[in-house]
Amino acid sequence: MMQRSLLLASIASLSVSCGAPSPAPTTPVGTSTPAAPAQPSAAAAPHPSEMRTDISSNAVPQFFPSVVRPCPANYDSLREAMKQGLNPQLSIINEALFHDKRPVEDRLETIAEGAAVILGCVPVVAKLGHGHFDETWPTFDHFVYNLVTNVSALQLAAQEDDVDEVKHWYQHVKHACASCHSRFWKK
Ligand code: HEC
Repeated sequence: MMQRSLLLASIASLSVSCGAPSPAPTTPVGTSTPAAPAQPSAAAAPHPSEMRTDISSNAVPQFFPSVVRPCPANYDSLREAMKQGLNPQLSIINEALFHDKRPVEDRLETIAEGAAVILGCVPVVAKLGHGHFDETWPTFDHFVYNLVTNVSALQLAAQEDDVDEVKHWYQHVKHACASCHSRFWKK
């Protein structure tokens, strides 16, 4: 069983690995030259849509012990990615967590694997969002990132054999799905 501190460290490094790289200092230490004041020019400033940073393309954690499995298919519509990619995995996780009668180790293994497939589908979902939500795509990407954070925590809790913690993060994962739906799923 892994320590709680590893979970926290992993989540901390998740946010570190996904953030924009720290800018290198522009003024060498010891020089007295003041930094040039920022003078944003409306004419020169790129339109916000040109300054998009794809935060989710690199959002799936690469560190041990996170496990990523291939998405079942490289779906070409968001609806199919949801219906055939994410949704069945959440059902599998729900079944293993609340209904399944197998030994707890087996159920937690199933949950960690389901989380791994969801993580594997993240690049597919992020890419499709890019195509479907032009001006709002950066916001869509934040919801994708939120899903990654919570699914990763769910997987870690399963790997740590901590059922209470798995139940906790499962609620966060459901909320990560629902919050994006309330913002982007026009019914
Ligand atoms: C980043 C945004 C986002 C996240 C996160 C997200 N979804 Fe979706 N989901 C959508 C959008 C947008 C649609 C509507 C797609 C369409 O109909 O074109 C949708 C639709 C769906 C549908 C309906 C598909 C159908 O049959 O029409 C299901 C089911 C679904 N999502 C499940 C999930 C589950 C489960 C999760 C979490 C594990 C999740 N989604 C996370 C954006 C998201």
